[in-house]
Amino acid sequence: MLKGRHLLDPRDFSLEELEEVFSLADEIIEDPKKFLHVCDGKILATLFYEPSTRTRCSFEAAMLRLGGSIIGFSEPNASSVSKGESVADTIRTIGCYADIAAMRHPKEGAPTIASMYSNIPVINAGDGSHQHPTQTLTDLLTIRKLKGHLSNLTIGCCGDLKFGRTVHSLVKALSRYNNNKFIFISPEELNIPDYVRKEILEKNNIEFREASKMEDVLGELDILYMTRVQRERFFNEDDYVRLKDSYILDKEKMKYAKDDMMVLHPLPRVNEISYEIDEDPRGCYFKQAKFGMYVRMALIAKLLGVR
Ligand code: CP
Repeated sequence: MLKGRHLLDPRDFSLEELEEVFSLADEIIEDPKKFLHVCDGKILATLFYEPSTRTRCSFEAAMLRLGGSIIGFSEPNASSVSKGESVADTIRTIGCYADIAAMRHPKEGAPTIASMYSNIPVINAGDGSHQHPTQTLTDLLTIRKLKGHLSNLTIGCCGDLKFGRTVHSLVKALSRYNNNKFIFISPEELNIPDYVRKEILEKNNIEFREASKMEDVLGELDILYMTRVQRERFFNEDDYVRLKDSYILDKEKMKYAKDDMMVLHPLPRVNEISYEIDEDPRGCYFKQAKFGMYVRMALIAKLLGVR
């Protein structure tokens, strides 16, 4: 039963519950008109303490396409956060006005704190370098739709694996399906954190290895998950400038990849995927962004118990 639950971590839902969300997303994709009024009279609050295009807009589009309404803020300075209001007080107040809330915050764990004080479902829309569970729902739905399965995959994660919350969440989620293995491609300074390596991969006997050159491993991959080096997470601009263009996927490199390898990216991209890849049928990142709206429609409907 998903009604009334929070989604803070990709593992908050069982595999069966995830399948419920994906099945509903399938139904919505099949016939969106059937769902035009399922959230009539309901309100989603988007509480974004950090910038966003896809997550906030897809949450808002999702609620509007279900017949509901939206309130919220897209940056903290436009709210009483700028006067020093705590996350706990903000969510207690928002709970007086809205039925469900999606929160993005630069501090790890802030949506979890909010959930402890909330009388409405709280969805983590990205917390610092920690987790981004609805991006993971998006990624899983995309893989499930375009590959047909979530098991027996070799997934390459490339770029900023240290600060990249989308990668941390995706590894957590895909580790629960059978026979998936990971290849991590990053500069040494941006390697996958120890907690992912030890607590998720080693603890669950998941096969993984690290590589420094993309060309060496591209031929093995079913999925290449590219990520941006995140300027906003660096303390030192010189380090960012030195590392930002470590990996750039272009036509030449794609010659090493399988014909059916999928290129995913949570977006936004900066330089890491050349625009020429947009024309390659293996570049699936804009389809992925669209699936993000459908899976959020399914998630909202399930957490509100309107279906
Ligand atoms: N993928 C993602 O989280 O994008 P935004 O930062 O634009 O929401």
